[in-house]
Amino acid sequence: MASNGTNGQPHREAPKQNGKAYEYVDHEFDVVVVGAGGSGLRATLGMAEQGLRTACITKVFPTRSHTVAAQGGIAASLKNMTPDSWQWHLYDTLKGSDWLGDVDAMQYLAMEAPKAVYELEHYGVPFSRTEDGLIYQRPFGGHMQNFGEGPPVQRTCAAADRTGHAILHTLYGQSLKNNAQFFIEYFAIDLIMSEDGRCTGVVAWDLDDGKIHRFSAKTVVLATGGYGRAYFSATSAHTCTGDGGGMVARAGLPLQDMEFVQFHPTGIYGAGCLITEGVRGEGGYLVNSEGERFMERYAPSAKDLASRDVVSRCMTMEIREGRGVGKEKDHIFLHLDHLDPKILHERLPGISESAKIFAGVDVTREPIPVLPTVHYNMGGIPTNYYGEVLNPTASNPDAVVPGLMAVGEAGCASVHGANRLGSNSLIDLVVFGRAAAIRAGEVIDRTSAVPALDKAACDRIMARFDKVRYASGANPTAAIRERMQKAMQEDAAVFRTQETLEQGCRRISQIWGEMSDLKINDRSMIWNSDLVETLELENLMANAITTVYSAEARKESRGAHAREDFTERLDGEWRVHSLANLSESGEVTLSYRPVHTEFIAEGMPEEKMAPKKRVY
Ligand code: FUM
Repeated sequence: MASNGTNGQPHREAPKQNGKAYEYVDHEFDVVVVGAGGSGLRATLGMAEQGLRTACITKVFPTRSHTVAAQGGIAASLKNMTPDSWQWHLYDTLKGSDWLGDVDAMQYLAMEAPKAVYELEHYGVPFSRTEDGLIYQRPFGGHMQNFGEGPPVQRTCAAADRTGHAILHTLYGQSLKNNAQFFIEYFAIDLIMSEDGRCTGVVAWDLDDGKIHRFSAKTVVLATGGYGRAYFSATSAHTCTGDGGGMVARAGLPLQDMEFVQFHPTGIYGAGCLITEGVRGEGGYLVNSEGERFMERYAPSAKDLASRDVVSRCMTMEIREGRGVGKEKDHIFLHLDHLDPKILHERLPGISESAKIFAGVDVTREPIPVLPTVHYNMGGIPTNYYGEVLNPTASNPDAVVPGLMAVGEAGCASVHGANRLGSNSLIDLVVFGRAAAIRAGEVIDRTSAVPALDKAACDRIMARFDKVRYASGANPTAAIRERMQKAMQEDAAVFRTQETLEQGCRRISQIWGEMSDLKINDRSMIWNSDLVETLELENLMANAITTVYSAEARKESRGAHAREDFTERLDGEWRVHSLANLSESGEVTLSYRPVHTEFIAEGMPEEKMAPKKRVY
């Protein structure tokens, strides 16, 4: 075998369809990571550091992955600026999750967070500093002192308002230093699954030269990010198309808690770009058309730093009740013009620039027009807190899929439950990317052979690829995508009812049907964006349809799932994770698995953890 896993020269195989042969390149690795955002790079680095032969496949250049857009920071109880503890962090995360998160995973997150951040510091992340040279930490929504009873805690470690950018560049450099092999601008088509349910690799398309690469691996790690682009207005990059969720659904595995979609309170009105919660952490506030700081009415204690789902709902209510700002009274103002320009320059330079470019606003003088905008998917591929993918059965709700892991926003560990706290995403990426690497180091047998390439499974994957590539129906990809995005935006929104959700199910199912009559114009294999976007649309649709059906079925309100017809959280019946399996013809089958309520280590006052009403 050639060094670092690549064992083959390009070769052609018999044409499968339309008289054209694909040129294949075959590889063998211990680990293949799909995705090079924060979690993918942290997993890649951790695997490579241990000497595992590691490949990272990514459809964009690593430092262009969506983590680059993460602004405000990464949560860890370092205690650099206020008293703090991992127990308080755990409590806030559990409360933020509206008691749907798995307690073992959340405890792991809160306990490992400081270690993971110090590792980042040592790898070279250029964090902002306090006067004493410590990592600078800012307040963020829902992070409080003393089990929610004290004032806001400064827990969010920041590199100005470009924290994701700093982390991504550092992790990419470190991964290269440790000889991870990158396959850049490759689109992962599907997982290679064996008859007995093991994942043995992945097939990917090199967008630049059109070759098809078949990766055999002992472990595949999906780190493909969220599916924000299933919605019309999202802070997510256009690349956030839920590719991992699509692959998992096609492999016959379930997706978990898909109904929980986070709206960030402050997307720029009209553009959707993120204005970090760090703005409110630094003293910014929201006002309605009457100039009122309305959050004081809804969340007297935390005010503008209440949890995101709460703030997004309050903004939506203000607009609905006629107190929105602007000509159409359809958005809200975010003020930071009272802050010291020096602070804005030092700590919030990125959003000052975004506000100028995307809203034409000088933040030192005028408020930014903002609106709740889709930002994050709490649901995803179910995993345990080692990052191993689960395929629950009746007798074992925690059954593991051999050879398959998922981390970051693509995964659902589940640390965010029904609602994620700001700055818990970046820490999720690095803690669980690292956890997956630790686990892989323990379970991968370095002396065993890489699973043999399953050519029959690869042929099935390429048959689907061909079906899309040669589609000559009536529906252009862009038209279907727009219909999907509008349906999701309108029917699976901040507030939901039986009527809107049933309508959403009908609309998305109808759109699913239209997918069988797709029209692709470009048949080439080189930089074929028509084909990429169609494969992405298939992935988005798998995520969208499982989201709307899971939401329709959940007859309660919890976290980001706010139903106007079932306004209470109903723990007796609904403190369970939803699982959605999708058939080839677009039928969604729902089942449920219990929430983990057991701690993995001592040190947590259990009486604090009992579910209660969530107020801020
Ligand atoms: O507002 C923000 O900076 C976003 C952070 C996050 O989603 O964790």
